[in-house]
Amino acid sequence: MRRSKPVLAFVAVAAVATAVAAIATGSSDSTRPLSRSAAPTWADVAPVFAEKCAGCHTPGGIAPFSLRNARSAAAHADGILVMTELGRMPPWMPGRDSPAYLGQSRRILAPAEKALIARWVRGGARIGAGRPVKPVGSSSNAPGTTMTLAPTSTYLPKAAVGGLDDYHCFLLEPHLTQDAYVTSAVIKPQQPTIVHHVILFEAAGENAVDARRLNDAAGGKGWTCFGGPGLSETHPTSDSAANDRLGAPPWISAWVPGHATNDLPSGTGVLVHAGAAIVMQVHYNLIHRAKRDRSLAVLRFAPAAETHLTPLNTILIPAPVELPCPRGVHSALCSRDVAVQQEIKKYGYNAALIPAGLLYICGKSLSDYPSSPASVKSLTTSCDRRVTRPLRIYGVAGHMHIRGYDIRVELNGRTLLHIPRWNFHWQDAYYLAQPVDANVGDTIRVSCKFDNSAIKQPLVNGKLLKPRYVLWGEGTTDEMCLGLLQAADR
Ligand code: HEC
Repeated sequence: MRRSKPVLAFVAVAAVATAVAAIATGSSDSTRPLSRSAAPTWADVAPVFAEKCAGCHTPGGIAPFSLRNARSAAAHADGILVMTELGRMPPWMPGRDSPAYLGQSRRILAPAEKALIARWVRGGARIGAGRPVKPVGSSSNAPGTTMTLAPTSTYLPKAAVGGLDDYHCFLLEPHLTQDAYVTSAVIKPQQPTIVHHVILFEAAGENAVDARRLNDAAGGKGWTCFGGPGLSETHPTSDSAANDRLGAPPWISAWVPGHATNDLPSGTGVLVHAGAAIVMQVHYNLIHRAKRDRSLAVLRFAPAAETHLTPLNTILIPAPVELPCPRGVHSALCSRDVAVQQEIKKYGYNAALIPAGLLYICGKSLSDYPSSPASVKSLTTSCDRRVTRPLRIYGVAGHMHIRGYDIRVELNGRTLLHIPRWNFHWQDAYYLAQPVDANVGDTIRVSCKFDNSAIKQPLVNGKLLKPRYVLWGEGTTDEMCLGLLQAADR
């Protein structure tokens, strides 16, 4: 689903338009004739690239070219101008109405930095002495010792019946002899084109026994796990739907496309108990061809007895997803009942209970979601969750799939995160610069907007899927509306 080429083609047109407009209004530096000697060189722009780009734009990094050396940067100068002027690079998704987050200054170009980059490009992207730079400020300060955990062998994903998705759980063994906090988690998908998410669950106590039994039964190769890892604690029932994690075991960390936040806020960690196993759930989406994968997790552990950290828990706040077909489209796929039957077929009966469970826990009914609205371009949903114990909220994230375009997480009407232009490829978790306290009786609301028009359907093998009734579901071509909090009990 990486579509940088067409996007760049589009943004290039837009940037030319912007540049033309700027010249017309005389507001741009480009109208001021620059003498050749005044044009900045690599030495001038390199510190900006080192701080704000090179963490990703590094050889072997997630970006398509390096911004650590002058030649590579100069070769991409036009693209750099376009992407920085449009605010597409560095990628930063929260809207202006979001609060401040840790590390955001490294992901936002100051106006003077943008102007400097523009002058460098327009002045011919001069290389000068051209010394290479190292990424600045992206190394980890988290306490503890690093451990790399990987499944015993590679795995070739295969889709469930008639679907495009595989959820596979791998057993990882950290062999902890004492309780420890995870202070940093780097999850490395080996096949990023097909990995849609990775979640690390702690399997302690009975869950560890279950996880090892399931893995042994599969010859050590892991097991299929739609809905959740399938451990004792882990069945999505109507009462577990309202708890912190839809009935799943504690989360340690998660990876989604665009994820770049690895260290927990200083002074915090996620507790993993002695003897626990870690279950790594990988969602493979097979819109692209299946390839063998061996995603791995690099975790930093600090012994709990020696390090006094505040333990964080993940709290999931899902909202119902009920997206009818556009008016005038008549097909069996536009029936909600057919949509439920398809989920049962693809992901099993438990996973297919979720749409009804979500309506129930959010106090909604199908009458809140008209089945034949005049337009399906702006379908909204939300869920209010009452806070039942005092919390300190450190982190917040949102999750939707392809048809979602706006997601907001609020506490009593105060925005904790707003992503006004949702992009599946740029998901991340955001740590609040100032953690926020929530008290018993407060309301956390997650709200999402979706467009279920014919042209907004997911592209599979170069073709748009036919519009259909879309429910909350496990597949990338289904939808989700999920708020996630990382919080400590107070
Ligand atoms: C968080 C990681 C990250 C940071 C930080 C980042 N980039 Fe990128 N950049 C990417 C990725 C990944 C792509 C590929 C986008 C895609 O394929 O959708 C990309 C694409 C680009 C492209 C388009 C390349 C193409 O051919 O499509 C340009 C230009 C670019 N980045 C410039 C920059 C500049 C300049 C900065 C800093 C001011 C920066 N980026 C910061 C990750 C990053």
